[in-house]
Amino acid sequence: MRLNIRLLSSAVQKRPFYVTTPIFYVNAAPHLGHLYSAVVADAIQRFEKLTNPDCNVIFSTGTDEHGTKIQQAAAKANLPLPDYCTKLSDEYRTLFREFNVDFTDYVRTTEKRHKVAVKHFWNKLVKKDYIYKAKYSGWYSVNDESFVPEAHTREDVINGEKVKVSVESGHPVEWTEETNYMFRLSAFKTHLQEWLSKDGVITPSKFQKQLQELLENEVYFPDISVSRPSSRVHWAIRVPNDEEQSIYVWLDALINYLTVIGYPDEEAMISRGRPWPADVHVVGKDILKFHGIYWPAFLMAINWHPPRRLVCHAHWTVDGTKMSKSRRNVVHPRATPAPPAALRYLLLREATMATDANYSETKLINVANSELADTLGNLASRCCGAALNPRQEFPPLHVKELADCKQSEVTAQLLDCVERLPGK
Ligand code: ME8
Ligand code: MG
Repeated sequence: MRLNIRLLSSAVQKRPFYVTTPIFYVNAAPHLGHLYSAVVADAIQRFEKLTNPDCNVIFSTGTDEHGTKIQQAAAKANLPLPDYCTKLSDEYRTLFREFNVDFTDYVRTTEKRHKVAVKHFWNKLVKKDYIYKAKYSGWYSVNDESFVPEAHTREDVINGEKVKVSVESGHPVEWTEETNYMFRLSAFKTHLQEWLSKDGVITPSKFQKQLQELLENEVYFPDISVSRPSSRVHWAIRVPNDEEQSIYVWLDALINYLTVIGYPDEEAMISRGRPWPADVHVVGKDILKFHGIYWPAFLMAINWHPPRRLVCHAHWTVDGTKMSKSRRNVVHPRATPAPPAALRYLLLREATMATDANYSETKLINVANSELADTLGNLASRCCGAALNPRQEFPPLHVKELADCKQSEVTAQLLDCVERLPGK
């Protein structure tokens, strides 16, 4: 198979910078982990603006609203599905605004423009013959919205009951037998390996290696199911021309990155200066496989470029356990004892991308007091004080010098060293 990849970006003069966060499930309220991804992406876009003030930043975030998991959450909340989704989606939006996450775009998978994009994408896959119908049986994890191969399951005891769980996430799996549409993922193994052999595609490099190993070791690299019977998953986008089948939530969700820039209207994408590929997708390590294997393969299947780079981060834990909605051990950003700026500071200061970070209130208070108030605050107040600065002069930021400096070879080498550091 030959890939004839189109470079849409060559048609625009001023290249925008496009960075995204994952779109978050509306099955529960946002917590510190979601805010962390948003703050990391926000820091990336702020740095870009600082060093490249002429660039046009597109920074998107939003919510993932389809599938069994959301169906169940809405039923539990005793609310009609659309109302439930809007309520929860608004919580994410409001929280990000409160914490100064300066996004330019907010996308919801229940929006009409998104459904148009997903259906168009599906039709493209069909036309290229990457979709076929098959009887499918296997383990399914509703928590992860993912089929789990037998070899990736183990026995566990939850609430005194013996159950099968996914090795990767620890979430329970259930046996499913149904007719599905399948995507020829297996056709992309070599292309994915090629893409993953390029340095810096995924940072920190540790995560890139993980995916490379997954591709090498998986003796059998199977096709994946990309639809579920509508009778089971009614809250989803229907497969075009087949009401009986609903599009798999992960295929639906990943396409949000195209919806934001105006897909499938390619002319508008170019005239509005919103071309593909994205510069950076910020993702948590729990969804690395979906972004580093499935997403590039889906894009390659329609002859589009994979994203330029994935920035993957590890998790925030509480007492050593991943903070997660399903484990009910979450920290709500608003309930922390410090102002938004201090929490943002802690998130970026304390976590390294490659390894998990543990949250504690004591740490937040200590860091806010000793580093923000005492050290930085003191420095700022001295510089601003009348004794040291009687004319109250504040030098402007030397944007040009900063940009020049970023272009220099020495800086490039330094940045490269810093980026490789977590891997060492
Ligand atoms: O997976 N520490 O949504 P989700 C750090 N809808 N980050 C964390 C975290 C933690 N403890 N918990 C969550 C989904 N996150 C899909 C994504 S994208 C096309 C679809 C962050 O609500 C982290 O970025 O489960 C993680 O990948 C994401 O939230 C998962 O959020
Ligand atoms: Mg999750």
